[in-house]
Amino acid sequence: MNKNTVKVYESAKALAQAAAVAVIDAAEQAIAHRGKFTIALSGGSTPPLMYKQLVNMQSDWSKWVVFVSDERWVPEDDAISNLGVAMRELLGRVAIPSGNIMHPYSHDLDAVNGAERYEMLLRQHASDAASPSGIRLDLVLLGVGDDGHTASLFPGKPAIEEQIRLVTASPHGVLPPPVERITFTFPAINSARQCFILAVGDKKSDVVAWSLKNTLTDHTYPVQRVRLTNGELTWMLDKDAASKL
Ligand code: 6PG
Repeated sequence: MNKNTVKVYESAKALAQAAAVAVIDAAEQAIAHRGKFTIALSGGSTPPLMYKQLVNMQSDWSKWVVFVSDERWVPEDDAISNLGVAMRELLGRVAIPSGNIMHPYSHDLDAVNGAERYEMLLRQHASDAASPSGIRLDLVLLGVGDDGHTASLFPGKPAIEEQIRLVTASPHGVLPPPVERITFTFPAINSARQCFILAVGDKKSDVVAWSLKNTLTDHTYPVQRVRLTNGELTWMLDKDAASKL
């Protein structure tokens, strides 16, 4: 069963609070039904707003297994590392077992080999034989760029067409920071039980409006390829990002 929902909030803070509650709810459901919660955090400037809310909430953190849906190929102590931000703002401040945090970056691997290694971790910790991709995460968090990218799946780049690999290397897009990345591919994203796309600000309004009004076969923007195989997609927008709907 597929379900697409659009939720609009008065402010980025209200969106972050609602997203945090929804993440905790998803964790509770997953842990109750399957004994663990597999989540992929996203990068960008929006997730830290949500981390500020999450860090004070209650959950059985010991059952969380955490990935990132994309990562810049830099050491985690670099300010632009997505997992580094999550570690500093959330993961290092709640009782998630260190072995349950899947660190993508490794100084002895390049992005291509790093992507292969990360895919192996996905297949190890989120495997699901019933899923066509072989994995099924409970929740994938995504943002959307002004150019319509999501994760590190940039317009016109080969990674958006990838149908076999779950994680691939991705040369930088036109938007900063200009560093190589690894990224979930659409087979990894679309096999999730739930996906939240968080978007804040009027710069996202054109991409959001186009994507939500052209849902069938149009592929103008990479984010339009987020189409869960058997799951629930929720767009979480502040009123500026939703202003052209
Ligand atoms: C990345 C992010 C990226 C981000 C979007 C939206 O590593 O660059 O994963 O896909 O989610 O660019 O970013 P904002 O949350 O800052 O709008």
